[in-house]
Amino acid sequence: MRLADCGLGCPYMGQAHADGQVLIASNRGPVSFTRGDDGHLSAKRGGGGMVSGLSAIADDGDTLWVCAALSDGDRAAARLAADGLLDPADVGGGAAVRMLDIPQHIFYRAYNAVANSALWFVHHMLYDTPNRPSFGPSFARDWEAFRTYNEMFAASLASAADARSAGRDAPARAVIQDYHLCLAPRLLAESAPGVRIAHFSHTPWAPPDYYRMLPDEVGREVLAGILGADHAGFLCRRWADAFVDCCEAFLGASVDAQRGLVGYRGHVTSIGVHPLGVDAGQIRERASERDVLTRRAALIDATEGRKLIVRVDRTELSKNIVRGLEAYRELLRIYPQWRGNVVHLAFAYPSRHDLPEYREYTAAVQRLARQIEDEFAEPGWRPLILEVNDDYPRSLAASRIADVMLVNPIRDGMNLVAKEGPILSDRGCALVLSTEAGAAAELGAEALLVNPFDITQTAEALHAALSMDDGERMRRSEALAVAAMSMPPRRWFADQLAALDRIAVS
Ligand code: G6P
Repeated sequence: MRLADCGLGCPYMGQAHADGQVLIASNRGPVSFTRGDDGHLSAKRGGGGMVSGLSAIADDGDTLWVCAALSDGDRAAARLAADGLLDPADVGGGAAVRMLDIPQHIFYRAYNAVANSALWFVHHMLYDTPNRPSFGPSFARDWEAFRTYNEMFAASLASAADARSAGRDAPARAVIQDYHLCLAPRLLAESAPGVRIAHFSHTPWAPPDYYRMLPDEVGREVLAGILGADHAGFLCRRWADAFVDCCEAFLGASVDAQRGLVGYRGHVTSIGVHPLGVDAGQIRERASERDVLTRRAALIDATEGRKLIVRVDRTELSKNIVRGLEAYRELLRIYPQWRGNVVHLAFAYPSRHDLPEYREYTAAVQRLARQIEDEFAEPGWRPLILEVNDDYPRSLAASRIADVMLVNPIRDGMNLVAKEGPILSDRGCALVLSTEAGAAAELGAEALLVNPFDITQTAEALHAALSMDDGERMRRSEALAVAAMSMPPRRWFADQLAALDRIAVS
């Protein structure tokens, strides 16, 4: 059924509410804390594409960012702050930050067992299906915790909207991020009906045939949760379409594909595609700071002017690091002319190590790296430099000097590394890019696209990328950079707020 036929009407009338309060909610916030040996808490920027995007926004002083305390350090900082509201000096300017001190057992189940082991796996299609998933009684308890966690966010947003919007004409706007908080839009809409709500998915969305793996009720609750929002945003058309297909298949929601509207239980949600890009000025400025220049010089020294294939990822199953290394090994086997003439810099920073799959995956990456070293290393040439630790300036330095960026995820919402590489590149880089990354929709024309499961094709693409002449590489790299900066975070965010502003007062 189409929306126009089902009597829900169109609630979008182009009214602007520029002056409303802005609330952001996400699991990971812009800052994280660690406690030093002297007991002192020190603050550090949060990681991941979602935080990178949002951190570049919201320095107008009138934004509140609600996030979860993730670690012991975070919990200590949240407890020290009145009402969880962090000291602006720790946050480093920008939005005010409220860190929620969620009871540890609730957080653990919500984050590890549901968000990262079920929803992340479904959307990235990561299950080894003969063995996993198997949803039993312990998942029911995990799901309860996930609900509680979402309720805590919704309650915090509702009370902030209440307090901060007092005396204002325009309604508060809440922009809720990612799969962790998929239930919060509906919960917030129920408790604070005046708030305009957007939800944004930074992940892919699973097609119905994979999504149906979730227990029926859970699958429906997730979809209905997001449809509690007035606007649901996705990184590319493919993920938005998959979401709408799931809404139709599992909720019987009515869809107006032409106008991008989904109607469910008398409420209409607009669906938007907002392909997050990079703030070129900001990242280039960061990449010209002293710590990056020092590392750049060290890397050039260590690799002695050889061609460089670079990858930068979290140690994340969906990033496909093992097959990337297999493809590099294949390259060295079938094109021996590269032996001694190329170095692969693989920088992976640790992620989600509470989950055994992630620890095992990291170990598999390290094992394969040793095998490559054993098979090919020669006196004076290390074929591969793998680092599993977090060094942001080193990642920037490597991206500056890369001849080839390798971005081959199994499935990825967007992948900002694919966009940052060409923007940072000193002399142009070729991009070997998975068809399954959201970024392929915008960068596909100038990248060398690969099927992430096809090692042979990836090895051939690496060879083609290394062999590209300087002029062609530069031309492609510049075109990639232009595409990558077309939707900088500020515009990406402003577009979502504008979508909310178009909603008429009901
Ligand atoms: C992806 C997700 C983000 C998440 C990030 C890092 O980009 O979309 O929501 O914050 O990964 O993952 P982590 O579990 O460390 O927050």
